[in-house]
Amino acid sequence: MQPYYSAEQWACWLDQLAEDSLVVMEDFLPASILTLVDDFFDVQLAEGALAPAKIGTAFEEQRLAEIRSDFICWIDQMQHPQLNPFFELIEELKGLVAQELFLSLEGFEFHLAQYPPGGFYKPHLDQFKARNNRMLSLVIYLNRNWIPEHGGQLRIHEPVCKDIEPVFNRAVLFRSDLVLHEVLPAHKTRKSLTGWLLKRPSGVGLFGV
Ligand code: OGA
Ligand code: MN
Repeated sequence: MQPYYSAEQWACWLDQLAEDSLVVMEDFLPASILTLVDDFFDVQLAEGALAPAKIGTAFEEQRLAEIRSDFICWIDQMQHPQLNPFFELIEELKGLVAQELFLSLEGFEFHLAQYPPGGFYKPHLDQFKARNNRMLSLVIYLNRNWIPEHGGQLRIHEPVCKDIEPVFNRAVLFRSDLVLHEVLPAHKTRKSLTGWLLKRPSGVGLFGV
């Protein structure tokens, strides 16, 4: 299969990731995959597939509305084969990350996320006490015509301080164990495709996170 990006492009992104624990990638999804994902999101919304997100594991089941208020829908290759081009791109990323950063990655998990107006996610790391197999986080924003007045910035607290606007087809890749981040209140519905490259695969949805 033809790679989606040149070795130089990946090297440039991964160098920055290695240096800063975080890299912002503009126009990340190729046009055909972007359309696929964007249309898929609309179908899932229309079908009412998104449900309130939970924190932590199935053992801490209660919805902690004071921590996060997004609605999510897990996606996976078995259930959603129409998203295969997207998963192929993630495989490409996973292979290069493993090779370039010497990380042993074995799987990934992704969900669609929608923050309703007023939605937020308080400061957190993407690794949990009970579950630390998330190595890298990838957030791809799907908000057309997003302007700073709409809020919803991804605020990075550590290891650097910066705000990232969730503009259409921008992606952020960062270390799940090191980067302390939050989602500031969005004043408009805010959509993303968010996922994690894993040390060891876990059953999607099994842990209820
Ligand atoms: C998350 C998260 C960031 C964003 O889902 O864990 O931090 O910008 N998302 O949507
Ligand atoms: Mn997070």
